[in-house]
Amino acid sequence: MRILIVDDDDIATDILANALTQFGHHVTSARSGREALELMRSCSYRLVVLDWEMPGMTGIDLCRHIRRRYSSGYVYVILLTARRGTQSIVEGLNAGADDFISKPFEPQELEVRIHAGERILSLESHEVTIFSLAKLAESRDQETGAHLERMREYCRTLADELSPWEKFRDEVDSDYVQLLYMTSPLHDVGKVGIPDKILLKPGPLTAEEFEIMKRHTVIGSKTLDAALDLHPEAKFLCMARDIARSHHERFDGSGYPDGLAGEDIPLCGRIVALADVYDALTTKRVYKPAFSHEKSREIILKGMGNHFDPDIVRAFLQNEDRFVEILNRFAAREEFEASSLLKSRAEMALVY
Ligand SMILES: [Fe+2]
Ligand SMILES: [Fe+2]
Repeated sequence: MRILIVDDDDIATDILANALTQFGHHVTSARSGREALELMRSCSYRLVVLDWEMPGMTGIDLCRHIRRRYSSGYVYVILLTARRGTQSIVEGLNAGADDFISKPFEPQELEVRIHAGERILSLESHEVTIFSLAKLAESRDQETGAHLERMREYCRTLADELSPWEKFRDEVDSDYVQLLYMTSPLHDVGKVGIPDKILLKPGPLTAEEFEIMKRHTVIGSKTLDAALDLHPEAKFLCMARDIARSHHERFDGSGYPDGLAGEDIPLCGRIVALADVYDALTTKRVYKPAFSHEKSREIILKGMGNHFDPDIVRAFLQNEDRFVEILNRFAAREEFEASSLLKSRAEMALVY
């Protein structure tokens, strides 16, 4: 396992690095939080052991930074500390640490904790499975390629914004944000149960067809509910079920399938509702061109309080730059992929 150690104390770093190397890990060390972030930018580390007490950026600050970063994989963070007591543990966990090792450490204990981290990281393959499932469901649909990728980034941006707000503090912690990122791509999984002639119809749907289309929310939530019966402890299934069912509810109660209003709609559903609509507005669909961010913003503002939860709209307004950045990043990627495809086709034509 590749491990990054962050400690300003050279002697402590050497001892730790030696112990970890003896256990067969590849170790890199950084002397400060800044240096660690720099290293993490250029190389991916899945497991970081960091010292709580460091001059400048402390271990806790660094931990928060790591959690705010938009890395593709989860980073397991172990805090090294001489501190004891519940208060310190709570502070560390709140900053997003996964585990603690008390100083001075016992090599055996260290290895056991590293193993626990490796186990957790292996669970991330579940996330990949979930995403593949969502992709499979989406492949029958006509929504644009990176819809799910963009959508989950928008969802995470909104949840990150809400997290420190007094009103959401208890509900939205770093676990919630991660779960939302993981499960939001499943919002339309129920579309697998919608007949092709309706799902793929190029023109507008008749009232009767629309009623059938609406059922994707119920089909998706029932499927996930069945999985939840087998694994009642799986928080991600619970959130995925809530999202599948409630992402077309409207704040004023005029949505479907249950006509829930206001805060009766699960928060995850209210977040996904805005992220999903923003993505539909800003990208080209068979029934409409891609709207600019400004035009989409205007439409979302009109929906404040009727379609969307006003708090979620406020969170969106606080993060417009980030939304535009995500939009542009994926647009550039799609353009690059399209041009590479053209190029490889041209090369194939030359070969044959
Ligand atoms: Fe949907
Ligand atoms: Fe969608």
